[in-house]
Amino acid sequence: MKIKEFYNKIICDDCRNVLKNIPDNSVHMILSDIPYGISLDKWDVLHDNTNSALLGSSPAQLNAGNVFKRRGKPINGWSNADKEIPKQYQEWCSSWAEDTLRVLKPGGSAIIFAGRRFAARCIVALEDTGFNFRDMIAWERSQAVHRAQRVKIVFERRGDNENAEKWNNWRLGNLKPNFEPILWFFKPYKITVTDNLVENELGAYNEKAVKEWFSNPNNIFKCDYNINDRGLHEAQKPIKLFSGLIEMLTLKGHIILDPFAGSGTTGLAAKILDRKYILIEKDKKSFEIIKKRMKEAVQRRLFE
Ligand SMILES: C[S@@+](CC[C@H](N)C(=O)[O-])C[C@H]1O[C@@H](n2cnc3c(N)ncnc32)[C@H](O)[C@@H]1O
Repeated sequence: MKIKEFYNKIICDDCRNVLKNIPDNSVHMILSDIPYGISLDKWDVLHDNTNSALLGSSPAQLNAGNVFKRRGKPINGWSNADKEIPKQYQEWCSSWAEDTLRVLKPGGSAIIFAGRRFAARCIVALEDTGFNFRDMIAWERSQAVHRAQRVKIVFERRGDNENAEKWNNWRLGNLKPNFEPILWFFKPYKITVTDNLVENELGAYNEKAVKEWFSNPNNIFKCDYNINDRGLHEAQKPIKLFSGLIEMLTLKGHIILDPFAGSGTTGLAAKILDRKYILIEKDKKSFEIIKKRMKEAVQRRLFE
């Protein structure tokens, strides 16, 4: 198939089926917020571990509240089967990495949101495929849900006041997650960087765009959600964040591919900025949301 046949298309399928049909060296940028593999929902379960508490299968989880039921224990590595989960996440990344590298033009960037827990596995999978890992950018948001339990409360529930006092101000779990890693890869080229800029218009970044979208031209991108960024997908990302990344790395008319499109944030940002998009999403419900969103939202003011 020719690349023109994919211009501004939204495709409902497993991206691994679709990527095979996209020509070599044909897209300027890959921008994708891939499943993090942390069991946020069914689409985020990327391993075959049946010997765990995942998705409510253990007695402990069946009696527990929803968050625990859905997020599960396996990422803590509590059994041998649980320890396979990171490896299987890496294998899953490898299952689409080769074709994403093939379709990207030389010098083109792949910007991947892969989560804090398994980002390292994604980096290894993509590097082993032939991508170059350029940098890790920090997305900093001022608000985030903090789930780490207060130890004091655990002991108070047991009626153990001595330990409640001793462990006052301590928590179980993670620090408040205001930071998310953005992985920046590029496809190696065989000519000089300036020749590649002339030939493919890729290989440099637009410093002015970074300054304009994120206030500072450094690798910490401060960006909060606004009213247009909520309610369509559990893992929805801010349009502003994706817009800044697109303007940082591409020119008008360039083609941006998102193989894990969710509610279509990449497509919307690309369309607003006069880029072409190719969106792939396997879930039918999300696919319908993207179509509706692309039709309705473009005329509205989205960054306020
Ligand atoms: C993290 S979400 C993307 C959210 C998106 N950034 C947004 O702003 O709405 C990842 C999406 O990838 C989809 N997905 C998972 N595996 C897929 C596959 N093999 N092919 C295509 N889509 C897939 C899931 O259904 C989910 O909607």
